[in-house]
Amino acid sequence: MASISIRDMSVSYNKGKSLVLEKMNLEVKDGEFCVFLGPSGCGKSTAMQCVAGLLHPVSGEIRFGDQVMSAVEGKKETTFVEPQERNIAMVFQEYALYPNMTVRENMSFALKTQKVPREQIDAKVNEMAKLLEIEDFLDRRIANLSGGQRQRVALGRAMVRNANVFLLDEPLGNLDAKLRDKVRYELKQIQKRMHVTTVYVTHDQTEAMTMADHIVLMKQGKIMQQGTPFDLYDHPNCLFVAGFLGTPEINTFPCTVREAGSGLVLEGKGFTVAVPKEMSACLKGYVGSQVILGIRPSDFTLASEGSENAFTGEIDGVEPLGDAFLIHVHVDGQMMIFKYTGDKAPQGTKITMAPNLKKLHLFDPKTEKRINA
Ligand SMILES: Nc1ncnc2c1ncn2[C@@H]1O[C@H](COP(=O)(O)OP(=O)(O)OP(=O)(O)O)[C@@H](O)[C@H]1O
Ligand SMILES: [Mg+2]
Repeated sequence: MASISIRDMSVSYNKGKSLVLEKMNLEVKDGEFCVFLGPSGCGKSTAMQCVAGLLHPVSGEIRFGDQVMSAVEGKKETTFVEPQERNIAMVFQEYALYPNMTVRENMSFALKTQKVPREQIDAKVNEMAKLLEIEDFLDRRIANLSGGQRQRVALGRAMVRNANVFLLDEPLGNLDAKLRDKVRYELKQIQKRMHVTTVYVTHDQTEAMTMADHIVLMKQGKIMQQGTPFDLYDHPNCLFVAGFLGTPEINTFPCTVREAGSGLVLEGKGFTVAVPKEMSACLKGYVGSQVILGIRPSDFTLASEGSENAFTGEIDGVEPLGDAFLIHVHVDGQMMIFKYTGDKAPQGTKITMAPNLKKLHLFDPKTEKRINA
């Protein structure tokens, strides 16, 4: 097993004309499940392909444990270990299976070349096939499978190998929603059991939240924040991170910081919220100025009209989820969403909601950086 360390890695296409990754730094611990997350085109697959050895960075260094996989000094590449020498198992966004082989042959291929005994190969392939629900077509050729079935074969083929590192690029993209939830959970369980260092690429924040030990959230070739799912969810360091994690998206309200008695309040359109004591110190420099207040839809509770520190508005529409309701509310011209977990949708047209004051997120409107600790 191996840790992965990436130092100051930059990547460009078109002979250096377009820089797609800029000085990326990160450590994936041995056995860790690390997710590269971010919108389409931010550089997730590019970063993973560098780890795999399919792309050459223009600067920086990649190590597996204490072994250097690729290194560039000045403008010269001083080390580059070929992909087949890196002992990695990969599933690509466009999975490359052998179309004329059967499912079983595809899944056994790498183990055969490693000269693993026949019974061991069969046992492994059968176990993985059962888990991925492909045991019924183990003897079918790849060309005769659906996209989702092929994807599971590609996943199975990677998982049966005794690799040091798993690299998975959107491996669940072609599965239907139900199967995706199941495979997501199983995949994580297998990874935990095998304790294989894993890099997993996705743009799906739910996959990242549920599977990752370590999320690396990227935007336009840069890491915006990295840490545990809860680090990012509870303490997003900027508006982009706050908005990227969590569905429905966090509500954001422009407001002004004002002094009131011995403390501070946040005054916005349709609400006034007292700033908790522990948050006051970091807002001292903002008195009289604007900040952006972020509150997640699930961090409100239903309150009675006229309550202090509450938001009152007109209900615009209600979406039932089965176990909760998403209530879309107009608060003085601004739309927000309140995730309400009661048994029955609130009646009437007016609604009052109280935010959990311990879960306020404050951002600077110019830099978009987080203000409170
Ligand atoms: N071979 C290439 N030549 C030039 N530009 C490329 C090449 N491959 C990717 N790019 C560009 O590099 C950037 C990063 O691409 P990358 O494939 O890493 O994104 P991604 O985060 O994996 O996106 P997605 O979620 O859509 O798969 C994009 O702007 C893309 O257009
Ligand atoms: Mg990609």
